[in-house]
Amino acid sequence: MRRLDGKTALITGAARGIGRAFAEAYVREGARVALADIDTARAEASAAEIGEGAVAVEMDVTRQDSIDAAVAETVERLGRIDILINNAAVFTAAPIVEIERADFDRLFEINVAGTLFTLQAVARHMIARGGGGKIINMASQAGRRGEPLVAVYCATKAAVISLTQSAGLNLIQHGINVNAIAPGVVDGEHWDGVDAFFAKYEGKAPGQKKTEVGAAVPYGRMGTAADLTGMAVFLASAEADYVVAQCYNVDGGQWMS
Ligand SMILES: NC(=O)c1ccc[n+]([C@@H]2O[C@H](COP(=O)([O-])OP(=O)(O)OC[C@H]3O[C@@H](n4cnc5c(N)ncnc54)[C@H](O)[C@@H]3O)[C@@H](O)[C@H]2O)c1
Repeated sequence: MRRLDGKTALITGAARGIGRAFAEAYVREGARVALADIDTARAEASAAEIGEGAVAVEMDVTRQDSIDAAVAETVERLGRIDILINNAAVFTAAPIVEIERADFDRLFEINVAGTLFTLQAVARHMIARGGGGKIINMASQAGRRGEPLVAVYCATKAAVISLTQSAGLNLIQHGINVNAIAPGVVDGEHWDGVDAFFAKYEGKAPGQKKTEVGAAVPYGRMGTAADLTGMAVFLASAEADYVVAQCYNVDGGQWMS
């Protein structure tokens, strides 16, 4: 018996990186998964590579019509949604005096409003069909404290932790568990972009910041998407029924709370 046998999941931002790794892990555990992403071509390629049990869905989490359409399409193709992972997010960095309002608005639209209104649309579906569900929001160690060059991204992830707490407390009456995962530094295309920001603002050589942050992790290296899948499967499973409104650090020992 696999841990997610018969379950269905919608994962946002699943075309690549951590979201894609979660989709693969869920399919391995017996779930059928909708990989929802603004990058439709890549979501389709990833779903095809994962194979049976994976479908691609077009979704822009900044647009309410797109959220509603993606939820409706997932319900139509998979029958229902038992699990949601709010994983889509973007990163930016700048010193405080150089932050641009457009960048602030873009990050809060994707990382915060996208998380809340996707959670809302899926929670409405879960409440209407009964039987509860599991919602997992992707936070970050960046949501645990500020960083000198990362004010806006840090603030979005702090907001994700706060929304997880409020939604978790509000939705558990319907049997919907809302929890979050706070990764540390996870190697992949996302961190290639982060590295480029630090090269720009700290004058580092390409790849240097990655090497430094990896060496500073108590575990001794950067994380991989595979390091996070155990927590994502646990929080989606019946074993997590009594886990409510929490944010779990999966970060090699970076943060303690
Ligand atoms: N990589 C890390 O070190 C790290 C650390 C802490 C937290 N996280 C969080 O984990 C999650 C996944 O990170 P990742 O490293 O896989 O990132 P990633 O950049 O590799 O993937 C993000 C995905 O989101 C999609 N996306 C962007 N805007 C979208 C939109 N408007 N609508 C729908 N999809 C959209 C992108 O197309 C992409 O496929 C994010 O929430 C991120 O903030 C990552």
